[in-house]
Amino acid sequence: MPFLSVQHVSKSFGPPRSRSHVLHDINLQIEEGEFVAIIGYSGAGKTTLMSLLAGLTEPDAGEILFDGQRMAGPGPDRGIVFQNYSLLPWLTVYENVALAVDQVFPSWTPAARRAHVEKYLATVNLTPALQKVPSELSGGMRQRVSVARTLAMQPRVLLLDEPLGALDALTRGTLQDELSRICQEDKKTVVLITNDPDEAIYLADRVIPLTAGPRATLGPSIPITLPRPRDRRTFNENYDFKQIRHEVVNYLLKARPRDTAGLLKKLVLPNIEPEDISGTRGPRRPRNAGPIRRAEIAAVAVGTPTEP
Ligand SMILES: Nc1ncnc2c1ncn2[C@@H]1O[C@H](COP(=O)(O)OP(=O)(O)O)[C@@H](O)[C@H]1O
Ligand SMILES: [Mg+2]
Repeated sequence: MPFLSVQHVSKSFGPPRSRSHVLHDINLQIEEGEFVAIIGYSGAGKTTLMSLLAGLTEPDAGEILFDGQRMAGPGPDRGIVFQNYSLLPWLTVYENVALAVDQVFPSWTPAARRAHVEKYLATVNLTPALQKVPSELSGGMRQRVSVARTLAMQPRVLLLDEPLGALDALTRGTLQDELSRICQEDKKTVVLITNDPDEAIYLADRVIPLTAGPRATLGPSIPITLPRPRDRRTFNENYDFKQIRHEVVNYLLKARPRDTAGLLKKLVLPNIEPEDISGTRGPRRPRNAGPIRRAEIAAVAVGTPTEP
């Protein structure tokens, strides 16, 4: 019996007549201690899938089993880290983590809780910033607080929803290294959502592509056979890395969104033209004259008066 098992799960939103079918027939089996990366297009339904795994939303069809039990609602055994940090801005770094620890471990002594908070903030190299508030931190530091807060709750599964997506490349690389170290040390069960094939291959045991929506579904599981610890500097010369990357990217390209052309055909542009503010085309239009309409320009061109 897999640790986390998703069976024939589908999810849609909206009223019956204009329902948007986001996820279709999702099947996923994850063993304890495995690090799985799911990679897909923006808007495909990655966050929806994460919310289902966290128990924040319910599937329309199918079921999700966690350690053999049907999942019922969210719980501290599944910790989630979102892309947008979600810290409380009026609390310090220490207090943001302590709040979660107090809720999950209320029976511990205050000294034990303090030591626990400090340990996890040290794990993400934030000891010098304990008393700072989020507005005083860089994006990378804020995301470290989020990670420390989730780890400190000691979840049995770590759900990471594009946690590094908003960071610049260098900070992103540093945090990838930290995540890799922490997850290997703890042998955590992790589901990482990302849109970066290199990040997925660097961190995970296997990568699963999510096809473009609507009705997005998971593709084949691609094992990452690269030995650990991995050194990204050697990737460019590594044949296995290139093969895996090729496989992931090719699958995603084949499964890319198809309806863009149809959408463009139906697009009706409003009957207005951008205003010329360069001042080179005759007198300036009065401020209250409203937008310039295309019919008006055509009329001027043929010398006929226009309606006011
Ligand atoms: N609560 C909701 N109500 C209605 N539509 C939603 C809801 N959550 C997500 N969606 C829609 O589902 C689709 C997938 O969203 P999401 O899971 O956030 O994508 P991703 O994380 O891959 O960018 C989008 O079209 C989004 O508008
Ligand atoms: Mg998302």
